[in-house]
Amino acid sequence: MDTEVSVVGLGAMGAALAGAFLAAGHSTTVWNRTRDKALPLVARGAVEAASPGAAVGAAPLVVVCLSTYEAVREVLSPCAAGLAGRTLVNFTSGSPGHARDAADRARERNVHYLDAAVLMMPSGVGRPDSLQLYGGPRPAFDAHRGVLAALGDPVHLGDDPALPAVHDVALLGLLWSTLTGWLHGVALTGADGPGGGVSATAYTRVAGRWMRTVGRLMEEYARQIDAGAYPAGEFPLDQHLMLMGLLEHAGEERGVESGLPRVFLGLAGRAVEDGHGADGYAHLIEYVRGRAAR
Ligand SMILES: NC(=O)c1ccc[n+]([C@@H]2O[C@H](COP(=O)([O-])OP(=O)(O)OC[C@H]3O[C@@H](n4cnc5c(N)ncnc54)[C@H](OP(=O)(O)O)[C@@H]3O)[C@@H](O)[C@H]2O)c1
Repeated sequence: MDTEVSVVGLGAMGAALAGAFLAAGHSTTVWNRTRDKALPLVARGAVEAASPGAAVGAAPLVVVCLSTYEAVREVLSPCAAGLAGRTLVNFTSGSPGHARDAADRARERNVHYLDAAVLMMPSGVGRPDSLQLYGGPRPAFDAHRGVLAALGDPVHLGDDPALPAVHDVALLGLLWSTLTGWLHGVALTGADGPGGGVSATAYTRVAGRWMRTVGRLMEEYARQIDAGAYPAGEFPLDQHLMLMGLLEHAGEERGVESGLPRVFLGLAGRAVEDGHGADGYAHLIEYVRGRAAR
């Protein structure tokens, strides 16, 4: 083998992955369909391969990051024989079905396949807190964990190659719901207060501290959901519903878009109507899953 790792695909993300390997001192081969994109990496010490097959043959660990799984198939199918016995890590975004299909094809060709998701913009790759999720055979992950750690914080979710894609989309949902809730708070606080309202920066200082409490609540509710029981403790669902009404009212009074509190009210209102007002907030999972018995 010529280098420790090969990177196939040097778009915004692939170039960031290759750059992080180089920054960590790992010898790196690169290939991209449009050759220009390899040049900055070559200037930093990467070896440019003349073809995808040459890139695959240059390292025991092959990282691929292209626009789509179809492109990955198109580029790597002709190199299947060269990939046999090596580890292929696929950072291309796709569905759980894409990941399982790719893993099936890899298994037939004796390729150790890890599907992966990078939960960061390219500029964040390589930071210690940059999370990468992996799914596939644990021995393949363990064998290359040291090199993959150059990208950030590698987390192996399990042997199922679909796990990164499943988490990726769920975490995007968490991102947007959290950010939209934060925007709603920025609008509310910005509409009020001395001298024309609280600035987004000032509100966010408080909101950031509140997120620690929210994280602790998520952990407690996760335990309840896994156990299938939702004790209210000090904060029953009917109290949540009352406070959600206050949130909606506060927004309406200030002319703030209130679609978000109405989503909360809709879910909690149905649960309370169904007689679960004395239960804990985590009971709403039955409504979110669409399995609540009416
Ligand atoms: N950028 C992000 O913030 C980000 C974050 C998380 C995940 N991702 C995922 O990472 C993957 C790559 O994203 P990106 O931002 O790097 O995209 P990008 O900048 O558009 O780059 C796309 C890459 O795919 C290559 N490609 C596409 N079709 C090809 C084909 N038929 N044959 C050969 N090469 C082909 C392009 O080659 P050419 O240069 O020759 O066009 C380029 O290297 C995507 O699945 C994306 O969802 C991206």
